[in-house]
Amino acid sequence: DLDQNNDIRSRIRTIPDFPKPGIQFRDITTLLLDAEGLKLTIDRMAAQVQGPVDLVAGIEARGFLFASALAMRLETGVLLVRKDGKLPGATIAEDYALEYGTDRIAIHADACAPGARVLLVDDLIATGGTARAAVRLLHKAGAVVVQAAFVVDLPELGGAAALRDDGVAVSALVV
Ligand code: PRP
Ligand code: HPA
Repeated sequence: DLDQNNDIRSRIRTIPDFPKPGIQFRDITTLLLDAEGLKLTIDRMAAQVQGPVDLVAGIEARGFLFASALAMRLETGVLLVRKDGKLPGATIAEDYALEYGTDRIAIHADACAPGARVLLVDDLIATGGTARAAVRLLHKAGAVVVQAAFVVDLPELGGAAALRDDGVAVSALVV
């Protein structure tokens, strides 16, 4: 990873002290603005997918962009993993820990058929709290989470390792 995707790495901007002093924020908006960068990203995320996928699940909000583009490439639909309170139909929800307090994400209870092979997609994995809650939700819905794919993994925060400990295959373009 470290040498392979330098063309993608170089299109991700680092903003110091956002949202708080001391945080080096990896900003993928510059990658999205770049037509070649966006195409390279989707091509390589698609190339990392192992085995057949029935549905791509995207995590609000930035994950939606990559999930939708990847779903078109894989010729699947998209399942929305949203912040709680946004989906209009009957939902199932999961809480996850933040630095201070908790947050809750939800999916429509009928979003996927039992046994559906789902690829989970987000822009970035940090602590893994969000992605792990999404995996729990998808499992509750009866899905088989075949892989979790990210543009960026921040490995020092341990999220990818925790997700792998949960038994989920993890891929990322830039570590
Ligand atoms: C960011 C990012 C991931 C999550 C990663 O989303 O897009 O979803 O945080 O952090 P974690 O691995 O520690 O859970 P954010 O909640 O900022 O939402 P946004 O995409 O709506 O900006
Ligand atoms: N960039 C974008 N999203 C994030 C980051 C980051 O560095 N850390 C946690 N969520």
